[in-house]
Amino acid sequence: MNYIVVGTNRPESRSGQIAKVVQQLYRAQGESVEILDLQQLDLSTLTGRQYWQDQPAQVKAWVDLISQSRSLVMIVPEYNGSFPGVLKYFIDHWKFPDSFESRPVSFIGLGGRFGGLRAVEHLQQVFAYRNAYLFPERVFFMNCSKTIVDGQINDPVAMDLLQLQVKNFSRFVAALESAGLDALSVAKHRAKGK
Ligand SMILES: Cc1cc2nc3c(=O)[nH]c(=O)nc-3n(C[C@H](O)[C@H](O)[C@H](O)COP(=O)(O)O)c2cc1C
Repeated sequence: MNYIVVGTNRPESRSGQIAKVVQQLYRAQGESVEILDLQQLDLSTLTGRQYWQDQPAQVKAWVDLISQSRSLVMIVPEYNGSFPGVLKYFIDHWKFPDSFESRPVSFIGLGGRFGGLRAVEHLQQVFAYRNAYLFPERVFFMNCSKTIVDGQINDPVAMDLLQLQVKNFSRFVAALESAGLDALSVAKHRAKGK
């Protein structure tokens, strides 16, 4: 399964609204894709625990979905010049290297004047450091308080780029798979080698 990660837990976030549009675009071209919206993840259950041991059931279930994902589409708003802290907190509970290495990841940003550029670039650093495959075509939604309203996106340029990203990211993932380079293929080869 491919997953779209909504990188904030803010209720009724614009990131969540974009996720639904992105999901429809992927489904329209026959891809299976589900949304993981941080608003639905109770991170308070993690307080006082070790990061990788004894994870609460819901967190463990989400971390397992990430580790077993075919690809990830990260949707990140800009909060104080970066991606939301709650997203980093979630990522810090992912399994290493399983969640990151060789996983194809694409990025969508949203914010004010710069459309979440800093948020996306900071997040790209995290995934690059952890050896994921970063898809280079990024999409940014600028002035999002005006251009994303009630689930509608009123930014034709960003929508065109989004459609292109969806099409080309699907091809990117398929190309990695056919070469046996994606995370799921690598995990299979490792399991056979044991
Ligand atoms: C805590 C917080 C900090 C923000 N900081 C920035 C910022 O540094 N730069 C920016 O362009 N927009 C900033 N914004 C505006 C958000 O990018 C904008 O409200 C966007 O809709 C938030 O995404 P969301 O609806 O998915 O939460 C901030 C919003 C919040 C809630």
